[in-house]
Amino acid sequence: MVLSSGSPTLRVVFIAFEGGDGAGKTTQIELLRARLVEDGQDVVVTREPGGTDLGASIRQVLLHGDAIAPRAEALLFAADRAHHVATVVRPALRRDAAVLQDRYIDSSVAYQGAGRELDPAEIKRLSLWATEDLLPDLTVLLDVTPQDGRSRRGAVHDRLESEQDDFHARVREHYLQLAAQDPGRYLVVDASLPREEIAAIVAERVDRL
Ligand code: TYD
Repeated sequence: MVLSSGSPTLRVVFIAFEGGDGAGKTTQIELLRARLVEDGQDVVVTREPGGTDLGASIRQVLLHGDAIAPRAEALLFAADRAHHVATVVRPALRRDAAVLQDRYIDSSVAYQGAGRELDPAEIKRLSLWATEDLLPDLTVLLDVTPQDGRSRRGAVHDRLESEQDDFHARVREHYLQLAAQDPGRYLVVDASLPREEIAAIVAERVDRL
């Protein structure tokens, strides 16, 4: 997204990080944040679900509460997203900050659409309605196998993480399909590479944005 900016060299970007649980998104977001800040960029790091006060409550219900019917789960993720985009993401982009976000629409498409076997196209439409069609400039997909993800996460599992490997395999396959359909807006990186190597690949692509 290009917004008016004080400096002609600054170009405002919205970058989403996606991937299976345990892919290392948080680490990569922090490494990119440090690099952009060093370059003088205003950076907002945020996440879904839970990037707002309301979102923190929704996150608690979604990840640590009782069982939720799949369609109710999809609506709760979309509600978190609608509030987050309206109150955090769009205001940040408007003031020329770069937004680095841990999970966005593709998480719903992959987890609720493919994982829960709701219709991925409907799930996408729901999120586009929720966000008034805000799409990232770039989505970094950290590709992790269900087995690697589980061993990297360790012993603690939230409600989604506790799903079986076949659920996580559907999520992974769908993420890869999304990326293959639109290579210009995705960067797929093997999450098992050393973290500095992943950071260098991400930095190189972001520099080209
Ligand atoms: P995340 O914050 O990445 O987990 P953690 O901080 O514990 O590493 O994501 C929380 C979980 O929510 C994750 O299993 C993926 C799931 N999720 C969905 O199912 N749909 C969504 O739309 C989003 C944003 C997340």
